[in-house]
Formats: sequence, structure tokens, C-alpha cells
Amino acid sequence: MSVHIAAQKGDIAKTVLMPGDPLRAKYIADHFLEEVKLVSKTRNIFYFTGIYKGKEVSVGASGMGIPSIGIYSYELYTQYDVETIIRIGTCGAYSTDINIFDVLNVEYAASESTYAKFAWDIDGDRLASQGSIFQSLNETAKGLDVNLKPTTVHTSDIFYRKDQELPAVAAKYQCSAVEMEAFALFANAQYLGKNAATLLTVSDVIPTGAAISADERERALKPMIELALETSLVL
Ligand code: HPA
Repeated sequence: MSVHIAAQKGDIAKTVLMPGDPLRAKYIADHFLEEVKLVSKTRNIFYFTGIYKGKEVSVGASGMGIPSIGIYSYELYTQYDVETIIRIGTCGAYSTDINIFDVLNVEYAASESTYAKFAWDIDGDRLASQGSIFQSLNETAKGLDVNLKPTTVHTSDIFYRKDQELPAVAAKYQCSAVEMEAFALFANAQYLGKNAATLLTVSDVIPTGAAISADERERALKPMIELALETSLVL
């Protein structure tokens, strides 16, 4: 057990797929894994461990935002010997060059957040995905029907804001989209010498207001989930 996860050591696989939403973790376990065990439900943040094509994999939620993913990813890496976390989330596109349903592979996350500095004394406002998993995802995508786009995204603490101009750090690094977790995941992995990647399905395009409807979400997220699971086989 760790402070926020009830699983026993050994109950969680070396690779964890991490959606934001606990119900999405359940959906993935129910539809893609065999021999599924619910290993933690503390705070309704479900963690499941099961088998995908013969390989053990876990899936569990990060919750929303930097503090939440900071806690869960740290405990998984340090208390459960997890080696690789693949965040699978959604993002809002800043650029009209990308469309709803597109799948992004986050090479860099840029942020105004002080998380990396104050947690680990890591300087800089842009962090890279960690380990070779970013590359493994790109390679695996070529064999699947996924047009995966490598990119830099903005990890923001803010969902609602007064002004609609592009935030300075997003302009500085020409971020294509915004989400709320990747920077903290990459910071933890960098400090701990672990592997971390972030896949994002574009759920909305901010300048046009185009958005995936609630009904379309399951279908929309399937290519990203399959890409993460197929990549877990080569780790
Ligand atoms: N902002 C932050 N995170 C998001 C968004 C957004 O507009 N859309 C999906 N995740």
C-alpha cells in the first residue's frame, strides 16, 4: 500500500496506462484486458491489472491536473516498481492545423508550473518525454492505423480563464495543444530515472469550438488506447 493506492506490492504491472478519468480506466480494463483484477479503489481512483495479448499491464487514473498526476505517478514509480507510465488523455488544440480525433505523441510539455523546480530542483519550463517510449510509440503507430503526430503541448493549471490570448509559454514553444498533466509526469520520471510518455486525443479545437461529443468519446479514444496497449507489448 502507498498513501493513495491500496494495491499490494506486486499487484501492479511494470507498465501502467494512465487516463485521467477512473471510469475510462474501467472501460479499458473491461474492453481490452483479460483476467482483470481491481487492485485499488481508494478515492474511486480505480487501478486494474490484467493481461493484454499475454502481457501483464495495469490501467489506472491520474485524476485531473498536476498535483493529482504528481501523486499517483510518484507512488507508482517508487512504491510499486513501475517502470513506464503512458498517460492517455485528451487535449484542446490551440492550432487549427490539428483536428478533433487527431492523436498526438507529446515530445515536450511546456508549463508555467513550478512543480518540477520545487519538487525536484529541475530547472526550465519545458520537459521532454522520458526514456525510449516516445520513440516506441512512433514506431508502433506505423504498423497501426494511427496517424500519430509528435508535438509540444502546454501543460496548464488553468482550464477556465478571463483572457483568450495564447498563454506566453505556449507561444514561446509554439504549443499545438493544451492539457493539464504531462509536465508533472515527465518531471517525476526524469527525477526518478523512469519512462514516461503522453498520448493525447484532440477533444476540442479552441479557436473554432469544434468538439467531440460525449457520445463519440469512446470511439474517439480507441485508436489511442490500442496504440498504448500494442506498445506495451514491445517494452
Ligand atoms: N484545456 C485543458 N485541458 C484540456 C482541454 C482544454 O481546453 N481540452 C481537453 N483537455
